[in-house]
Amino acid sequence: MTSAELEAVAVKSFAERFGSQPSIASCAPGRVELLGNHTDYNGGLVMAAAIDRYTTVVGLDRPDRDGHVYALDFDGSDQFPLSNIARGEVGGWPNYVKGVVWAIQEALGSELIRGFEIVVAGDVPLGAGLSSSASLQAAVAFFLLGAGVAPGRSVGQYEGEGSASARMDLAMVLRRSENAFVGVSSGLLDQFSSLFGRADHALFLDCQSLEFDRLPLGDPGPAIVVCDSKTSRRLADGMYNRRHAECQAIVAYFRDRDGGDAVRLLRDVSLADLEDCWDDLDPVARKRARHVLTENERVLQGVSALKAGDLKRFGRLISASHASSRDDFENSSPALDALVEAARSAPGFLGGKLSGAGWAGCTVNLVEADKAEAFAEAVAASYARTRGVTPEVHICHAADGASSRPLTR
Ligand code: GLA
Repeated sequence: MTSAELEAVAVKSFAERFGSQPSIASCAPGRVELLGNHTDYNGGLVMAAAIDRYTTVVGLDRPDRDGHVYALDFDGSDQFPLSNIARGEVGGWPNYVKGVVWAIQEALGSELIRGFEIVVAGDVPLGAGLSSSASLQAAVAFFLLGAGVAPGRSVGQYEGEGSASARMDLAMVLRRSENAFVGVSSGLLDQFSSLFGRADHALFLDCQSLEFDRLPLGDPGPAIVVCDSKTSRRLADGMYNRRHAECQAIVAYFRDRDGGDAVRLLRDVSLADLEDCWDDLDPVARKRARHVLTENERVLQGVSALKAGDLKRFGRLISASHASSRDDFENSSPALDALVEAARSAPGFLGGKLSGAGWAGCTVNLVEADKAEAFAEAVAASYARTRGVTPEVHICHAADGASSRPLTR
């Protein structure tokens, strides 16, 4: 579905549900992680791309102080007062909507000026490692900005040249919403990607300095082919936070050893330091750390490969990232490994890895643009043969970040 088709579906649903026409539409993309797996909350380096799969929000402001939301894909609704936003059931979608309002109000130090009623619709596969949740957050935030209900903020501050620092601030507010309200200790990757995406570009982010870049993927750019194993998971299921804690155990070791504040994040530990102390370190945690630190290196090499226009080298780094996730971080799964294997011999394959948190969901593959269809067919057939399940394959392209616009009535 195009973003315009998605919006039309949401507008129709809004009219049925709320009996009027919405005045604002916002749209925010999902993302794939290309390199830098589980580096973000360790202050490391990441490369990603926003993709042309979106969440859209359409709606109106309301004179009272209530938020009303209907999520088409879940056929579920929620309603809450802006003055007292309570967390709902763990893992439920309403927390992502409420969390955005909560975090924006917290950052502004005041309540939204008015309430709102919205319909949410999307085509980012859910629970598949493509950040449907960050695209939901970004779409809600851009709806609120577009509707002018965030005091002291106008959507213009977040558009065009010179809007990078406002967008970065917003990405951090959305991250805080996920960390403190939803309860997942995630980094900045997903929110950054949904807000900073650009068509035909990969994104680079240094999660410590917040320096970022947009790197052309080439002309014609490669296809980003997402293969959904149809296995799913929830970020709030505990594995993600456990990995976070394992990384922190290595930070604690070096902090104790060195004293002071020199080591605050895994990023502050060098690969050489890790190797020197290898025998003294916890055998599980040290492998997690090796994954993160070698991922940082692969991101740097990936940036230089893209700058040199060398997609083959970039692809090999992506495949090396998967091997490191599988062997050291142990966040792959038999289904994801089989999908990566199936891709390896398919036409046009440049590189492939699991996407996002891992354990289930999708793989992301960089594929020569003119072979994307043949690639998709070959992977689906080979995976179906070995695993007895036909994966869902999405041929995607790098896309622009979140935006909102008034709807003419
Ligand atoms: C999830 C999180 C991100 C990031 C990735 C793994 O997508 O939301 O912040 O940690 O996993 O790289």
